Amino acid sequence: MEEKIMFDNPNIGILGLGHVGLPTALGLADIGWNVIGADDLKSKAQDIANGDAPFYEPGLSEMLIKNINSGRFSVASSVEEAIDASDVIFVCVGTPQNDDGSADLSQIENAGRTIAQNSNTNKLVVEKSTTPVSTSLRIKDTLRRYAKENVEFEVAVNPEFLREGTGLYDFFNPDRIVLGVESEAAKNTLLQIYLPLLAQTNPSDISDKEIYEAKSNDKFVITDVNTAELIKHASNSFLATKISFINLVADICEKSGSDVSKVAKGMGLDPRIGSSFLQAGLGFGGYCLPKDIKAFTKIGEDLGVDMSFFREVDNVNIRRVDQIIDKLKGKLWVLRDKTIAVWGIAFKPGTDDIRESPAMALIEKLIEEEVKLNLHDPKAMEEFKRTSLSEYSNIEYFTDPIDSSNNVDAIIIATDWPEFKSVDYKNIKDAMQYPFVLDARNLLNPVEMLDIGFDYIGVGRYS
Ligand code: UGA
Repeated sequence: MEEKIMFDNPNIGILGLGHVGLPTALGLADIGWNVIGADDLKSKAQDIANGDAPFYEPGLSEMLIKNINSGRFSVASSVEEAIDASDVIFVCVGTPQNDDGSADLSQIENAGRTIAQNSNTNKLVVEKSTTPVSTSLRIKDTLRRYAKENVEFEVAVNPEFLREGTGLYDFFNPDRIVLGVESEAAKNTLLQIYLPLLAQTNPSDISDKEIYEAKSNDKFVITDVNTAELIKHASNSFLATKISFINLVADICEKSGSDVSKVAKGMGLDPRIGSSFLQAGLGFGGYCLPKDIKAFTKIGEDLGVDMSFFREVDNVNIRRVDQIIDKLKGKLWVLRDKTIAVWGIAFKPGTDDIRESPAMALIEKLIEEEVKLNLHDPKAMEEFKRTSLSEYSNIEYFTDPIDSSNNVDAIIIATDWPEFKSVDYKNIKDAMQYPFVLDARNLLNPVEMLDIGFDYIGVGRYS
């Protein structure tokens, strides 16, 4: 008879302590599990072990210190040590993009091989990183090929749905927990791990009966491994589609003198459509949506499916930045030697992450136009200074957005940080060379801005 559970009260290992791995590790520790994390980047692992969060995420530093102090979260001195100490290993390593848009799975393969070569006991290996369909089956092959004698592995897929900036909130308040499994034993092990989160109890208070009955909880979506991988890729591609969709609608609004924010409201109140992800603007960025839609397109094409629909979703997004530059030129004509304040560098508010940020693409184009740049972002300025764009000689950095507006020819709002709503625009207007605000995120109220006396342009609202 098949085992009912693979591990009772498992020790949990997390490989990769980035934006996915660290919140997951701390979340699991916080609900009562013993978690050991590891990262190939030794300096990062050391910082985390010392209680220093390696990136900004609301509540992360506090959660890190709390769980180090409770003794439930620790950082291994090597990946091998974490593997040895764990029964269930969550693989949270990076899946960057290859030049052809496909996912570079070398870190995943390497994690599989390292787990196999260093495991002396059976393990459940859970793929949490976002990967194309069938990747977990390749992990399984790798584990088998490099396994020591008498050591067995199972694989499972448990995609993450953590948004940057609300990663911890999302861990503790999941819409769904997708478990792609190949056996009852793996399924019950994962149900056991997540049940304390939904039942709000300690792992030790959960009975076997509750574990076996947990599958009927609506939050759990239990599938085969390939389906679980597809749920993640399809979800992010759908979110990207919604954004490109509303951005195209914004273009029609501009040409027809309509207001995209009202169109989005009117559409979004239909529960079949939903109001989220209908904010028109500079387009989607970050480490997930742009990469995932490309990888989803590529895997679909490799499987012989015509993916031109998704290719276009991406193309619409890439064009957003050029449209903003065209609007700027439409107002200021020649950009060379003009002083432009850009507010916002992060790919979205609530994070210092600038990877694939539309604001970065915009800044790059402004540099090509040889403007003088006044930059401000509440969190991401230090990240920017580490990039090659910061080598441009004509950049000044401002910790206060008001100071950044002195004598500028335009302000561009490139990230919708809520704090940009409450700055004193009356003062700003007087300080500017010419009071022009190009609101690439539709953050501000156009009527109020026009009342103050600004020349104001948003996206899909006023041409
Ligand atoms: C995204 C997904 O939302 C998460 O569910 C998923 O877990 C995560 O990717 C991942 O795969 O790890 P994230 O990359 O943190 O999360 O960012 P989002 O909140 O999805 O925003 C992505 C981009 O879309 C941002 O640049 C944002 O400014 C833009 N956006 C979002 C819009 O332009 N309009 C909108 O209406 C919403």
